Amino acid sequence: MINYKNLMHLAQEARNYSYSPYSHFRVGAALLSKSGKIYTGCNIENAAYSATNCAERTAIFKAVSEGERDFVALAIVGGREGETSDFCAPCGVCRQVISEFCPKEFEIVLGNEDKFKVYTLDQLLPLSFSDKDL
Ligand code: THU
Repeated sequence: MINYKNLMHLAQEARNYSYSPYSHFRVGAALLSKSGKIYTGCNIENAAYSATNCAERTAIFKAVSEGERDFVALAIVGGREGETSDFCAPCGVCRQVISEFCPKEFEIVLGNEDKFKVYTLDQLLPLSFSDKDL
């Protein structure tokens, strides 16, 4: 049984490290791997805006770069600086990166520690492009 509340809590904590001086939109993510290890990430912005990395990709890239490729769930917490996070959906690029490593039934948890909703990757990225299309 996945402890969604704990995963959301860790995403909320990771959000504290968000480097977002340009958008003032702070995001944290927590990625649960099949091994049980949890990788966290935050968004990291850049003065050259397109060099920005989203929280979800930070967590996934950290995990993959440490040899982890099997994942179970990803929690995302985001919102404007100074505001309690409410509901932040992953951007299209992050959905595509998630789909590179995760199956259709992979779970994506959105909201905050107290109130969240669980979606499958297939719900958030239907009809996706994958290696099978190449
Ligand atoms: N952001 C994320 O980190 N994840 C998302 O899924 C949505 C957007 C970040 C990127 C940028 O630093 C800020 O939020 C505003 O777009």
